[in-house]
Amino acid sequence: MKAELVKRPRRLRLNQNIRDMVRETSLNVKDLIYPYFVVEGENVKEEIEAMPKVFHFSIDKLVKDVKETYELGIPAILLFGIPSSKDEVGSQAYASSGIVQRAVRAIKEAIPSMIVITDVCLCEYTSHGHCGVVESGYVDNDKTLELIAKTALSHAKAGADMVAPSDMMDGRVGCIRQILDSEGYVTVPIMAYSAKYASGFYGPFREAAQSAPQFGDRRSYQMDPANSDEALREIALDIEEGADIVMVKPALAYLDIIRRAKDSFKVPLATYNVSGEYSMIKAAALKGWLDEKVVVLESLTSMKRAGADMIITYFAKDAAKWLTTR
Ligand code: PBG
Repeated sequence: MKAELVKRPRRLRLNQNIRDMVRETSLNVKDLIYPYFVVEGENVKEEIEAMPKVFHFSIDKLVKDVKETYELGIPAILLFGIPSSKDEVGSQAYASSGIVQRAVRAIKEAIPSMIVITDVCLCEYTSHGHCGVVESGYVDNDKTLELIAKTALSHAKAGADMVAPSDMMDGRVGCIRQILDSEGYVTVPIMAYSAKYASGFYGPFREAAQSAPQFGDRRSYQMDPANSDEALREIALDIEEGADIVMVKPALAYLDIIRRAKDSFKVPLATYNVSGEYSMIKAAALKGWLDEKVVVLESLTSMKRAGADMIITYFAKDAAKWLTTR
């Protein structure tokens, strides 16, 4: 059985140079966005237990680390704040002297070309841990909108380059666009967490952000993991309301959603490789059960292959090093 085989796909896998020539998807350091958690205090750099090598930073230490990230060629960071005090209406989320607002000012002063994206949500700032205003056990959509919009505006005033609402309230993108435009921030883009699922993969993040809901869960505002058409409706609404970049979150268990979104809407698409996706690989790698570099690059590449243009990932710094030293 020899000459019959005219088609031999293995010809194009013969060596690395040939494989590189026919490679369909490329992962680039410019695709990556690195998330940070900023806390009050000074000289703080504390590892988050459920997320090895991810830290809580005070502003001074944060600025140093962001410099490193910038030098690695990573173009953007996503900022989460952990305030020292919380209340029913998340006042610290929109305080001009809030932790995120101060952190943004410090980063933009030290590293002006780093793109600073801020997560816009109330869950880290509310005493009950929900993403909005709670009325008789239910997160009230329209009362929350006003606070979410105020939060986004306060971030823009502090110098944020882009705002990323992650609360999943109906109509928040439109409200944010309206307030930003009326206050003169027409050039600040909105990256919308459009198809954000009620996922178990956020477990480690809730420890990192101290944002676990104190009662109930987030299923009355985040999406049911069983749904796919609904993701397209959510994304369509956000685009209509003025989203510049849309997002699918989490990533690995939702690659089909990423693909459908990219096929349906020709807009920049981000995906969030979330905390649980990070920690499960990290834990297996620490045990020696997986080759970390191989599986991380494989997973990130699969997100690009599925259609994501950019990836928010806690692996960004490692990936940047692996991608630039071959
Ligand atoms: C805030 C928010 C969450 C994440 C990003 N923004 C948590 C949640 O909705 O519970 C999760 C990120 C991660 O798991 O890495 N609403």
